[in-house]
Amino acid sequence: MEVTGPGHDLDVQAIRKDFPILATQMNGKPLTYLDTAATSQKPQSVLDAMDHYYETSNANVHRAAYSLAEAATNALEGARAKVARFIGAGSANEVVFTKNATESLNLVAHAWGSKFLSQGDVVVLSQLEHHANIVPWHQLAASKGIELRWIPVGDDGRLDLTDLDALFDGAKMLAVTAMSNVTGTITPVTELAERAHAAGALVSVDACQYAPHLSLDVQTFGADFVSFSSHKMLGPTGIGVLWGRPEVLDATPPFMGGGGMILDVTMDGFTPAAVPQKFEAGTPAVAEAVGLGAAVDYLDALGMDQVRAHEVALNRYAIEMLTDRFGDSLTIHGPQEPEARGGVLSFALADIHPHDMSQVLNEHGVGVRPGHHCAKPLMRVLGVGATTRASWYVYNDTDDIDVLGDALADAKDFFGL
Ligand code: ALA
Repeated sequence: MEVTGPGHDLDVQAIRKDFPILATQMNGKPLTYLDTAATSQKPQSVLDAMDHYYETSNANVHRAAYSLAEAATNALEGARAKVARFIGAGSANEVVFTKNATESLNLVAHAWGSKFLSQGDVVVLSQLEHHANIVPWHQLAASKGIELRWIPVGDDGRLDLTDLDALFDGAKMLAVTAMSNVTGTITPVTELAERAHAAGALVSVDACQYAPHLSLDVQTFGADFVSFSSHKMLGPTGIGVLWGRPEVLDATPPFMGGGGMILDVTMDGFTPAAVPQKFEAGTPAVAEAVGLGAAVDYLDALGMDQVRAHEVALNRYAIEMLTDRFGDSLTIHGPQEPEARGGVLSFALADIHPHDMSQVLNEHGVGVRPGHHCAKPLMRVLGVGATTRASWYVYNDTDDIDVLGDALADAKDFFGL
């Protein structure tokens, strides 16, 4: 069944034809892929763009004067320009390519933090964070003695901003997610950035779950750093993005040293290249950048407003249908309003363990993620060890959610509940 709703007219059946993997089976059943929050599937245009690059343009970049090397450099820089436009960056030079969002977030903590943080300095995080936006700061707490403070999550699954002034008092950095990978909670990034800046802190946003699903404009966010991955937004693995405000990137020292990131090297030291090459030591992931560029083209053609409207419609359908069907035996974590969350639904059904649940769903051809989702502090706040998480994207429709509902009913029967 097609999803319909205000402002929404994605043709999901046509979109599905662009994704070869969605025609495959899992355990003898049609694949019902509900794990996009872990990684998205890839359209044929992304696969073709990467093949085409290797077939026609492959050489190393920024290093040679022959025409093929120039074509490879143009492919890399063309992808950077597409990403810059997609996120509203002022210039392609504000876009740094990394290995993934985890590397982007580590770059902020370790490179920026190595210069600008010292003993007793305060970094504010939220309880919604993924480990990738927690562990690097814990490492700095251990090596430099910085203090971590936490914006709490309220019972409604949203950030509780009541004590924000006290939390930001004296802070040097706010590191916060734009959307939780567990509860789907969309956080008020613009407001948080304004208040953090007013308190004198910089702002680093983990937009891993946000960038694939909502129109991302770094100017509206008002942050200093924004990190996200290609592989959750229809692109390949192996490439991530760090956007930074130009003056902040300029002031941040390099993260890794090596070829490609220097202006000069002597036996006494080195002079780094300008941004973004300063942060791109070694041969970059050129084919992956080309794939990311093709993914951006695909999302642009759909329209990010349409992508968002589709996911809100699926949220509404899933929350209403599953609640009707399972009543009090179903717990949906996070905000209950479809508009307050991304296309991520973490839930518990009776007392079925998420790993057992995932195995039963697997028999139905349904792929979901069970576990702590690399967000153990949030699990503790929710009072659970793990959840089952279903997540959707442009290639899912209500049929997928119906299959999930039937599989959950089967799991209930199987465990005699
Ligand atoms: N961060 C990814 C997830 O939430 C892997 O599943």
